[in-house]
Amino acid sequence: MKSICKRLFLVTLMTIGAIAFSFSTMAGGHLKGELEIFSWWAGDEGPALEALIDLYKKQHPGVKVINATVTGGSGINAKAVLKTRMLGGNPPDSFQVHAGQELIGTWVKAKRMEDLTPIFKEMGWMNKFPKDLINLIGTDEGIWSVPVNIHRSNVMWYVPANLKKWGVKAPKSWADFLSIAPKLKAKGVTPLALATNWTANHLWESVALGVLGPDKYDKLWTGELSFASSDAQKVWEMFGKILMHTNTDASSLSWQQATDMVVNGQAAFNIMGDWAAGYMSTTLKLKPGKDFGWAASPDTGGVFMFLADSFGLPKGVTNRDNAIAWLKVLGSREGGDAFNPLKGSISSRLDSDLGKYNAYLQSAAADFGKNRIVGSLAHGVTANEGFMNDFATVMGMFLKSRNAKQGSMAAQAIAIQNGIATK
Ligand code: GAL
Repeated sequence: MKSICKRLFLVTLMTIGAIAFSFSTMAGGHLKGELEIFSWWAGDEGPALEALIDLYKKQHPGVKVINATVTGGSGINAKAVLKTRMLGGNPPDSFQVHAGQELIGTWVKAKRMEDLTPIFKEMGWMNKFPKDLINLIGTDEGIWSVPVNIHRSNVMWYVPANLKKWGVKAPKSWADFLSIAPKLKAKGVTPLALATNWTANHLWESVALGVLGPDKYDKLWTGELSFASSDAQKVWEMFGKILMHTNTDASSLSWQQATDMVVNGQAAFNIMGDWAAGYMSTTLKLKPGKDFGWAASPDTGGVFMFLADSFGLPKGVTNRDNAIAWLKVLGSREGGDAFNPLKGSISSRLDSDLGKYNAYLQSAAADFGKNRIVGSLAHGVTANEGFMNDFATVMGMFLKSRNAKQGSMAAQAIAIQNGIATK
């Protein structure tokens, strides 16, 4: 009797143990150790990432998350640090990377990433993201990152009450902009706020899209339209004219400071991705539609220049299981809807809950559904890291020389060097 009781007791204990184990497995509670997440979402750009980390910590309380950020908009500093770590065999467990050529033409090409197809299949994600987005993070060999958002690059920001006070409207074309700029200057207002050099690349891509139109813009990245063509030279010519109406201290400002110039009424407009909407609504607590307004950047109405932030899994990381669990949070509906309303982006998932998004983001979602879509240069969609680094040099030259012919010839040279163009 005694031994039966003992055995029964043991079986009961084992059953309880098994239930507890499978529960903790489902809840992810068995994971231990650390997880290092690498990104450039520091400071003002931090709240959305923190919301995701909070969600991860709830699901995996045993994991210590190291939020490794390297400050600098568009990853200007983070990407250099990442390169050193990747080449030195010391990759972070998971890192931020733009969907498109920044991922495929750089780290996938170098065979440094793990194929995430099994995760996409296990989680039932194959039809949860737009097909074109999956194509952008995939090759014939696999799927290489998990996308967390869709940002729009070609947006012009302004304060409606200020435009009214100054008697101007948001320009629909660059010709309109050039005609109202002197009027603004006469009132002591900077027509277009600009920040540090990468924001000049950002402005350039919107100008290129406006001057060339979406078909020719796309052809720049397939090598079908030469950067040295007279069409492409016109982009640099227009870009030079626009620069005449920007602030002279641009190179010393962060993108947030350029946004501040608009918010404070020092400048009329700024062209920036919609992380500016995240900054204005999440950090500055401004109300979209009332405290700040937006329009497609001049001459790009009906076109949505997009980019997507994603996270990948490098080969040989220290905390692989914890990183896989992180990617599962990132790609979930709940993760997307915790992150994006704060970030100023729309979810990369097709089933997001739009009720959680503000007026700007709802309009961005509507545009994404009906506009012509093209990829961003400045944020990794259309060209690899090699081209982007060289383009920054070309831009640096142009900002000094303002020589459109030299700009187009140099851009064509780096397109050839980086495998975009052949002649
Ligand atoms: C982009 C990135 C955005 C935002 C922005 C400013 O490259 O995709 O999420 O962080 O830079 O830093």
